[in-house]
Amino acid sequence: MKEIGAEAEITLENGFILKKRIVKKYREPQLDLRIRRERNKKEARLLVKASQKVNVPKIIDTSEFSIKMEFIKGIKLKDKENLKGLEKRMGEQIGLLHSLKIFHGDLTTSNILLKKDEIYLIDFGLADRGKIEDFATDLKVLFECVKASHTGFSETSFFEGYSKQMLEHNQVFTRLKKVYERGRYRIKSSQ
Ligand SMILES: Nc1ncnc2c1ncn2[C@@H]1O[C@H](COP(=O)(O)OP(=O)(O)O)[C@@H](O)[C@H]1O
Ligand SMILES: [Mg+2]
Repeated sequence: MKEIGAEAEITLENGFILKKRIVKKYREPQLDLRIRRERNKKEARLLVKASQKVNVPKIIDTSEFSIKMEFIKGIKLKDKENLKGLEKRMGEQIGLLHSLKIFHGDLTTSNILLKKDEIYLIDFGLADRGKIEDFATDLKVLFECVKASHTGFSETSFFEGYSKQMLEHNQVFTRLKKVYERGRYRIKSSQ
C-alpha cells in the first residue's frame, strides 16, 4: 500500500503505517522544513492526547518528519456510500474529541475509518486545541462532505451520539446554526 496525500506519503511497512511528510517544492525551503516539522510534531502530540478517549491509531515511534503508527485495518468511510447506522458512533467519537477541547480541522470522510464496527479518527495534521467555533466548523465540514458524497446519514442520530459525549453540545449546535446563517448571508450578499 502506498498513498500520496496532500501533505504526506503513507506506506504500510511490516504491518505499521508510516506517515512521512514530503517536501513541498512550492514552499520556500526553510519555511517548508518548519511547516513539516511543526505539523508532524503537532499531529503526534494530538494523537497521544486524543487517545485518552478517542479511537485513534496508536503511535509506535516518531521522528522529525514522520510518524509510525498502528495500521487500522478497515475501510475509509469515503468508500462507503451509505452511512446509515454509523451516525451515532461517528457522533460519539467526534464528541469525545471535542470534549478534550481538540478540533480536527479536516473532518471529511477520508479521515474517518471503520474497523469492524468501530469508528476511528485519523489525520491530525491540522488539528489543534479549539473553542466552540472550531468544533462547530468541524461539524459543518463533516455535514457538507456527507451531503455531497453519501446517503443514509441522519444528523439526528449523529447528535444523539455527540450530545452523549460532549458536555457543551448545546453551545456547539447554536454556533453551528450561526455559521450556516452566515454562509447564507454571504452567498446572498455576493449576488
Ligand atoms: N493509521 C492508519 N491506518 C489505516 N490507514 C491509514 C492510517 N493512516 C492513514 N491511512 C490511510 O492513508 C490515507 C492518507 O492519510 P492521512 O493521515 O489522511 O494523510 P493526508 O494528510 O495526506 O490526508 C488515509 O485516508 C487512509 O486511507
Ligand atoms: Mg487525510
